[in-house]
Amino acid sequence: MRYNIITYGNDILRKVSIDVDKSIDVKKLSDDMFETMYDANGVGLAAPQIGKNIRMFVADLSHWHNDYGIKKLVAINPLLTFIENDEIIIEEEGCLSIPNLSAEVPRKKHVTIKYYDLEWNLHEEKFEDMAARVIQHETDHLYGKMYIDYIERNKDIEQYLRHT
Ligand code: NI
Repeated sequence: MRYNIITYGNDILRKVSIDVDKSIDVKKLSDDMFETMYDANGVGLAAPQIGKNIRMFVADLSHWHNDYGIKKLVAINPLLTFIENDEIIIEEEGCLSIPNLSAEVPRKKHVTIKYYDLEWNLHEEKFEDMAARVIQHETDHLYGKMYIDYIERNKDIEQYLRHT
């Protein structure tokens, strides 16, 4: 089932999400989230973007020909840790909840993510560069943060956001 993607201005995107519990059919939900994400040509989608304030996101990391062995990542109750004084990388970023806008966003080069998979097995994995960027972007959604919080917002952007 494909969901409608919630767009900027909706309060749901600014709420702090709560942990996913085992009463939730995470398999069905992740299938639906991938379907919604691919349909919108996205590479990542967090649960708040489909109106659910729960700590879960999906991402397709195959895009970057990485060696992680993970192509389609489903991260349940993710927690991130970072290297102290890590390198900051600036790259273009967009969000399915803010259509037709992108901006250069500073992100840490490396990230370690602890998360549960669909079988509720706990994983801890390290990622870097674009994969690390996607993971930081999607996890931010679970804290009510969006990439535009990190950029200098000029008049054009302000006006665009007001009309989204
Ligand atoms: Ni986003």
